[in-house]
Amino acid sequence: MHRNKVVIIGGGGHAKVVIDVIQSADTYELVGFTSHSDQESNLSGIPYLGDDSILPTLLEEGVQYFFVATGNNRLRKKLFYQLIELGFTPINAISPFARISPFAKLGRGIVVMPGAVINAYAVIEDNVIINTLSGIDHDCLIKPHAHIAPGASLAGCVNVGEGAFVGMKSSVIPEISIGEWSVVGAGAAVISDVPSYVTVVGVPAKKIIVRNEER
Ligand SMILES: CC(C)(COP(=O)(O)OP(=O)(O)OC[C@H]1O[C@@H](n2cnc3c(N)ncnc32)[C@H](O)[C@@H]1OP(=O)(O)O)[C@@H](O)C(=O)NCCC(=O)NCCS
Repeated sequence: MHRNKVVIIGGGGHAKVVIDVIQSADTYELVGFTSHSDQESNLSGIPYLGDDSILPTLLEEGVQYFFVATGNNRLRKKLFYQLIELGFTPINAISPFARISPFAKLGRGIVVMPGAVINAYAVIEDNVIINTLSGIDHDCLIKPHAHIAPGASLAGCVNVGEGAFVGMKSSVIPEISIGEWSVVGAGAAVISDVPSYVTVVGVPAKKIIVRNEER
């Protein structure tokens, strides 16, 4: 069976899980990963190719697809557009153990980890992480480069802004908006709208940082 060739960008903890998800779906051929930090010679059985300067050569050799596997939302955004600019096409990494409604809409460059559930009429935009065991209920809108961390639960009609991070095991009640590049702490209960560029924690969630850099 012909499988399209994919390069993974990143070699950290998030990349380990993304590689596992793509391998378990068995739809693509992973040619290797690139990284800027010192690396082992392979990660989960795929080879280290060098830093991103190798990318134009890979393209010439017929590797057309990529997945940016870094958990840092700001860096992931930058790399996502750099790779598209170079001429690569993003793939989605969908675990066979996730449940995605046929009425949900997915963008490009998205990972959906094992045990995640995306319900009807949810919209997940480009380069978003839907992490392990998280729940995205009906009519949610997740904007580009956001990260819904493991076990986070979003009720119906929640909007998550660009680059926002929703921490592990947090809960968000229906119709809440979380502003762009904001952070929701692990275990928080979000019961009112969160403005952009802030950090909220606790039950109920309260602001602890009033001005985040994009992260
Ligand atoms: C919210 C968070 C980003 C804050 O990190 P930070 O900016 O480094 O903040 P600090 O650790 O300095 O904590 C600041 C204060 O908030 C409190 N706090 C931090 N995180 C909290 C949380 N999740 N719930 C309740 N209180 C929290 C701290 O106890 C501290 O309180 P104090 O000032 O009274 O001592 C971080 O604690 C967090 O929850 N991250 C989520 C991690 C996660 O989900 N990872 C998933 C990876 S896939």
